[in-house]
Amino acid sequence: MNQNELTLRPEIPADWDEVEFLIREAFWDVYRPGCDEHLIVHTLRNHPETIPELNFVAVLYGRIVGHIFYTRTRIEYDGGAQEAAAFGPISVLPELQKQGVGSAMIRHTLPLAARMGFPGVVITGNPDYYHRFGFHDAAQHGIVMPDGSTGPWLMAQEFIPGALCSGCLHFAPQFDTDSAQLAEFETHFPHKEKRFSH
Ligand SMILES: CC(C)(COP(=O)(O)OP(=O)(O)OC[C@H]1O[C@@H](n2cnc3c(N)ncnc32)[C@H](O)[C@@H]1OP(=O)(O)O)[C@@H](O)C(=O)NCCC(=O)NCCS
Repeated sequence: MNQNELTLRPEIPADWDEVEFLIREAFWDVYRPGCDEHLIVHTLRNHPETIPELNFVAVLYGRIVGHIFYTRTRIEYDGGAQEAAAFGPISVLPELQKQGVGSAMIRHTLPLAARMGFPGVVITGNPDYYHRFGFHDAAQHGIVMPDGSTGPWLMAQEFIPGALCSGCLHFAPQFDTDSAQLAEFETHFPHKEKRFSH
C-alpha cells in the first residue's frame, strides 16, 4: 500500500453502510464467532454519547479502508463524574491491516480530542498495540470498571498531567448488545460463515 495515497476525513452519514460493512469484515471471528461491533456503531448513530467530530474514515483510491469511532465515557467518583473520550471499535479492512492505517487514524484523532477539551482518552484493547500511542494502564489514574476490574487491557492517556480523575468508568450502554437484535441486524448483510477457532 502506498501511504501517500491514504487520506483521512471525517465520516459522513453517506458512509455509514459502507463503514458498518467494513467493521464487520475487520472484526469477524477475531474475538468470538462472528462479531457485534458493527451493531454497536449502528446503535450509537445520532446518539448523544457519540462524538461525530472525531469519527474518521481512511480512504484509499476512493474506497473506505479504515474507520475510528469515538464515544463519551463517564468516570464516576464520590460526588461527581468526569467525561472523557473513548475510541473503539477501530477497524481496518483485513487485506490492508498492518500497513499503518490504524496508526494513522489514531495519531490524527488524538490531538483533535485534546483540542475539543477532553481531559484524556480511555480505551480497552491490546496493550502491545496501544502503548505506542502513549496509552498506559488506566489503573495508574485509579480508573477501574464499575465492577472494580482492571488490567493491562484498560488503558488511558491524559492530555494534561493530572487531568483525568480516579473513579469507575462507564462506557455507553449500547456496547452491550442483545443476541436477538444482532441476529436481526445480520439479516441486512451478506451471509458469512463463523469459523472462530481459538
Ligand atoms: C487493530 C487494527 C485497527 C490495527 O490497525 P492496523 O492498520 O492493522 O495496524 P498498524 O499498521 O497501524 O500497526 C501495525 C502494528 O500493530 C500491530 N497490531 C495490529 N493489530 C494488533 C492487535 N490487535 N494487537 C496487537 N498488535 C496489533 C501489528 O503487529 C504491527 O506491529 P509492528 O509495528 O510492531 O509490526 C486492525 O488490525 C484491525 O482492524 N484489526 C481487527 C479489529 C480489531 O482488533 N480492532 C481493535 C480492537 S481493540
